[in-house]
Amino acid sequence: MDNEGFSTQLMWLLWIWIFLGMTAISDCSPGRPLIINFGDSNSDTGGVLAGTGLPIGLPHGMTFFHRGTGRLGDGRLIIDFFCEHLNLSYLSPYLDSLASNFTSGVNFAVSGAMTLPQFIPFALDVQVRQFIRFKNRSLELQTTGSGNFIDEKGFFSALYMIDIGQNDLLMALYASNLTYAPVAKQIPYFLAEVKLAIQNIYLYGGRKFWIHNTGPLGCAPKELALHPRTKNDLDRIGCFRVHNDLARAFNKGLRNICKDMRTVLKDTTIVYVDVYSIKYNLFAKYKKYGFEDPFMACCGYGGPPNNYDPKATCGQPGSSICHNVSRSIVWDGVHYSEASNRAIATSILSGHYSTPQMKLENFWKA
Ligand SMILES: *[C@@H]1O[C@H](CO)[C@@H](O)[C@H](O)[C@H]1NC(C)=O
Ligand SMILES: *[C@@H]1O[C@H](CO)[C@@H](O)[C@H](O)[C@H]1NC(C)=O
Ligand SMILES: *[C@@H]1O[C@H](CO)[C@@H](O)[C@H](O)[C@H]1NC(C)=O
Ligand SMILES: *[C@@H]1O[C@H](CO)[C@@H](O)[C@H](O)[C@H]1NC(C)=O
Ligand SMILES: *[C@@H]1O[C@H](CO)[C@@H](O)[C@H](O)[C@H]1NC(C)=O
Repeated sequence: MDNEGFSTQLMWLLWIWIFLGMTAISDCSPGRPLIINFGDSNSDTGGVLAGTGLPIGLPHGMTFFHRGTGRLGDGRLIIDFFCEHLNLSYLSPYLDSLASNFTSGVNFAVSGAMTLPQFIPFALDVQVRQFIRFKNRSLELQTTGSGNFIDEKGFFSALYMIDIGQNDLLMALYASNLTYAPVAKQIPYFLAEVKLAIQNIYLYGGRKFWIHNTGPLGCAPKELALHPRTKNDLDRIGCFRVHNDLARAFNKGLRNICKDMRTVLKDTTIVYVDVYSIKYNLFAKYKKYGFEDPFMACCGYGGPPNNYDPKATCGQPGSSICHNVSRSIVWDGVHYSEASNRAIATSILSGHYSTPQMKLENFWKA
């Protein structure tokens, strides 16, 4: 064999080796980051606007988007900061029929969504059925090559996020005139829906899960403004005890479900994220985070102590906006400000509040 023949052969071997190496890498590689999200206003990036036409315009969005995007808040949500962290574009709502772009993933969250009752737009089970339809249709369209759709590998490597439950707890609280026991009795039914969602997503190929627990609902200016109370009804920092006790009971159950599911669905990674503690810390140590008047809505009516009045909520005639929204924890009495969402996202991304302790980006590291 002459030298040239030898080197040609070597080149071929090298190419085959590189090719095999690359396919081997791509076969067991964790894929690129993608987020498929389910939930309520905490993570709705425009679903309620697209799905119901409810006009959610300015002042919502004023800080960052400078227009109404359907997000409830002055700017970005926690999930938007996740996308930035992963170098993804913001998620399009599944329901958005105009200029949607699903290359980064898809968002099924709709403000106001609950786990129950089933079959009501856009309860969690409906969102999961929309996902099943979305996956089926994406794979069909992907094979026709008619555009940029998530492929089988994308669905496999995607992270499935769920953040839901607060509206179930609030509705039940209102129906019971803020008594603990009747609400606590319903928590297992709410949790069963979350469990079912995880099981169904798993059945349709999801293997990575990121589950947010629910926040300290009793610290919201709206709750504090709406319900008469005595000092005994509030905890040491001034939040409603009953709301927060129920949120913690829900979270305890959710944590157990994640634990159980990890042993049943062995090839999954299910991360439970303690958003409650992060949000509660914002209220408890607001000065440390650069906030003032923790229980005052920035956008609303009525002034101290809560600046919340159901007759003139944020955006309605009579409401006004505080001087510097980045000093407010809560934007409109219910939803968090962009400044809070940034602080919350930073804490979540530290990995310290995750069980098992894991950083978001590590889902896609070999
Ligand atoms: C995002 O992009 C920045 C800048 O290009 C890079 O430093 C960072 O590692 C990327 N993050 C991820 C999670 O890929
Ligand atoms: C969709 O988003 C991706 C990622 O941000 C971008 O590269 C692509 O150009 C977008 N596609 C369209 C049709 O806008
Ligand atoms: C999509 O749904 C159709 C009709 O239910 C079914 O026949 C088809 O196999 C599904 N395709 C995929 C890729 O799941
Ligand atoms: C609800 O509870 C409050 C405080 O415990 C009480 O004053 C009020 O009468 C109750 N309302 C109803 C409709 O039961
Ligand atoms: C608003 O408050 C933030 C945080 O305290 C501060 O960094 C910023 O300079 C303030 N902006 C204005 C216009 O006062």
